[in-house]
Amino acid sequence: MIKSVGIIGASGWLGEHLTAALLEQGRRVVGFSRRPREDQDLEWRQWDGEGEIDLSGVGAVVNLAGEAIDQRWNQKRKEEFYRSRITLTGNLVSAVSASEVKLLLNSSAVGIYGDRKELLLSEGSKPGQGYLAELCVAWEKAAMAAEDAGIRVCCLRTGVVLGRGGRAWEKIRKIFRFGLGGKLGDGRQWMPWIHLDDEIGGIIHCLDHDLSGPVNLVSPHPVRNEELTLMLSRAMARPAVFPVPGFALKLVFGEFAEEGLLTSQKVDPAVLKKDRYQFKYTHLGHALADLTA
Ligand SMILES: NC(=O)c1ccc[n+]([C@@H]2O[C@H](COP(=O)([O-])OP(=O)(O)OC[C@H]3O[C@@H](n4cnc5c(N)ncnc54)[C@H](OP(=O)(O)O)[C@@H]3O)[C@@H](O)[C@H]2O)c1
Repeated sequence: MIKSVGIIGASGWLGEHLTAALLEQGRRVVGFSRRPREDQDLEWRQWDGEGEIDLSGVGAVVNLAGEAIDQRWNQKRKEEFYRSRITLTGNLVSAVSASEVKLLLNSSAVGIYGDRKELLLSEGSKPGQGYLAELCVAWEKAAMAAEDAGIRVCCLRTGVVLGRGGRAWEKIRKIFRFGLGGKLGDGRQWMPWIHLDDEIGGIIHCLDHDLSGPVNLVSPHPVRNEELTLMLSRAMARPAVFPVPGFALKLVFGEFAEEGLLTSQKVDPAVLKKDRYQFKYTHLGHALADLTA
């Protein structure tokens, strides 16, 4: 078992939860941040994605850094999406390649598959089209380069993570609580979701098992947006009578609406299933019961 784990983006939502889970298991965590802080439980080191990074004493690195994508895109933001993912990962790979680090788990996203309608997508499927797909392809290419230095690399193709305090869940919850929920567009698009516990469980599984290459971090049962809407409306005992037309979403969210909200991705966690990872939440109903309890 790798005892000492460095987390880039440890201050983020997933970073905080992963840190807590690893500390609970008795491992040592080194958090990397642009703005390190004083902490009793873990050591913080400064790194802004460029220049020197001190990886001494770190056996594995989990890279969870990245400028938030779920906002209106413009040229300046796109430059930051690229810098905080591809440029940062390239710099990280140069540093881990010259260090004692044995393993790199690097963030990616189901956005790599693009809009694929009804097609069942596994890790072996070809990348799709569009801005997010291209961004993820470049991100994974930058990460996989660490294999040249004999480092085991996994690219974590994460779906929409549902958990308290997470951006996706808190937005959905607020909208439904005010009775303003409704399907997005025609609601037929597949949504690859994962409960926060399985996102963290899946990352730790990759840490401890001999997997490499892309790993889909999604539940084994994706749902259509209209099913999610119906189940949420039942779980929260609120009506869901306000379908949001695609053109309105595009007006408010711009390109992110098309690539993030209206896109259809029926993603299967084939690698995790084959490696017998035991999902805690396989069905959305079960996950929503937990999140609305
Ligand atoms: N949450 C999801 O549903 C989801 C889904 C798919 C993929 N992902 C990916 O998983 C990763 C973690 O997600 P998260 O929800 O934990 O994100 P988050 O809460 O926004 O945290 C991301 C961390 O990345 C660092 N960061 C942000 N912008 C940066 C920039 N411009 N330059 C350098 N570092 C920057 C920050 O660390 P410091 O400020 O401390 O430096 C921040 O704490 C991201 O790469 C995200 O794209 C998340």
